[in-house]
Amino acid sequence: MKDVTRRGALGVVTAAVAATTARAADPAAAPVPATPVPAFAGNHKPAALKFDPTKLNGLSEKLIRSHWENNYQGSVKALNMIEGRLAAAMTDKDFPPVVYGGLKREELHRTGSVILHELYFEQLGGNGQALGAIRDALAVSYGSFAAWEAEFRRTALALAGGSGWCILALNHHTNTLHNYWAWDHTNGPASGTPLIALDMYEHAFHMDYGTAAAKYVDAFMRNLDWEVVDSRFQAASRG
Ligand SMILES: [Fe+2]
Repeated sequence: MKDVTRRGALGVVTAAVAATTARAADPAAAPVPATPVPAFAGNHKPAALKFDPTKLNGLSEKLIRSHWENNYQGSVKALNMIEGRLAAAMTDKDFPPVVYGGLKREELHRTGSVILHELYFEQLGGNGQALGAIRDALAVSYGSFAAWEAEFRRTALALAGGSGWCILALNHHTNTLHNYWAWDHTNGPASGTPLIALDMYEHAFHMDYGTAAAKYVDAFMRNLDWEVVDSRFQAASRG
């Protein structure tokens, strides 16, 4: 190899090393990943209702089907769409941060909606009779099971006329049970597992009860499947 050629080759190698170093220091300049990105597969599928919606006590089939088809499935479709936009943005290093922030906020919002609605529908179809380790644990945490239920209902009604979720959660940071007031799909304890998710958005009850939210909460409690709640508690307690 002639000297001039060798110098040229060394120059190419040096430039390549410099470029690699620059990419490592600047993530924005890193090679774009191949699509589809697994994290943004956008293939969420709606979960089927596990109960007969004609058989609930005080919650009409029309209400349940509207809620499940329009609100829940609407969130599943929106989450898939948002993940598609996020996957596409992965190939664009110049994607505006302010627009990306909007997508990420909507990703969190729709993810919360899908999870909470799946918890909501999964826990319906029961007879409302509390049982198991969760009943005993709530009695210990609140002094009596009746006291827990009163505080749960009070928390739910504090959301009436607005929107949000009343959530019984196991707080893993303190290892305690609490009822939480969550004003939208993104609220909740920073470290907690939801055990009961009560939808207090008006779409969850207005068709049957108008603004009489307390009657809706009564109906929700009558249809709560405590075997589901207890199994969630036992799984969360095992970590
Ligand atoms: Fe809902």
